Amino acid sequence: MKTYAAYLQLVEQALPGALDGLGEIPSPLRDAMQYSLQAGGKRLRPVLLLAAADLLEGSVQEALPFACALEMIHTYSLIHDDLPAMDDDDLRRGRPACHKAFGEAVAILAGDGLLSAAAEVMLNAAAGMDSLRGTMAARAILRRAGVCGMVAGQTVDVTMEGTEPTAERVTYIHRHKTADLLTAPLEAAAWLAGADPAQREALLAYGASVGLAFQMADDLLDVEGDMAQLGKKTGLDATKGKLSWVALRGVEGTREDLLRETARAKAAISTLNKDVTFFTSLADELTTRWR
Ligand code: FPP
Ligand code: MG
Repeated sequence: MKTYAAYLQLVEQALPGALDGLGEIPSPLRDAMQYSLQAGGKRLRPVLLLAAADLLEGSVQEALPFACALEMIHTYSLIHDDLPAMDDDDLRRGRPACHKAFGEAVAILAGDGLLSAAAEVMLNAAAGMDSLRGTMAARAILRRAGVCGMVAGQTVDVTMEGTEPTAERVTYIHRHKTADLLTAPLEAAAWLAGADPAQREALLAYGASVGLAFQMADDLLDVEGDMAQLGKKTGLDATKGKLSWVALRGVEGTREDLLRETARAKAAISTLNKDVTFFTSLADELTTRWR
């Protein structure tokens, strides 16, 4: 296993060229896509994909296009989330949001472009593989990003603002808008590396719990985080009547639930008979994250 920094470096090296080979992308579109893609996120989802493939002794090189595609999908979701029609945020990753830099029309198209390019990149990689592993990995990522996954969660998030934060609604939102895209890299890696059913279950359970914990931390940061460190505005959830975990459980309750989900994630991954320090440490770091 490598360190987070080492997987991150692999992602950072591959990402700028990930759109090469798709053909000529007209300039405002390409610039807007690259502007958001290169804005310096944590690259958590692609790093998880590479690390999980490595853990199962799969090929990290073969996993790279899928890792890049996942970051493209994540980036599209941030661009669209920031639009005036959605969360209406001017600042992302410490820079003007895509629609502030390029205008709304180009930002919408940059999101559309990143999503369709991601599918193309994954299917190009899958077409060159010797089995259906790549196709299944692409399917898992697109399904978790899709109409029963992230898009479903986002729909409930934006349409239920101001309603009663019931446990059922808030859990649905967290599971789908955030945890699905954090489980996607683990599911894709399981396909790519040929995991057995027990390994697959352990990885999926880890992803689901880390994903929930991640959005709980995000909701806490909206209340108590530092805007400069986060690179985005804080305090927006309460203003908008968002169905956040804090709205459901309060700050203390959210902290408790966050620790419980982190412990669940660590327990799930520990059922694999392998050195999972990378994954248990990452779960702990996400619990105490500041950006
Ligand atoms: C921050 O990720 C992102 C989240 C906590 C997920 C929020 C969910 C959405 C924005 C869903 C939007 C969906 C649609 C369909 C528009 P991060 O902390 O990993 O960000 P980074 O990449 O900047 O580090
Ligand atoms: Mg949002």
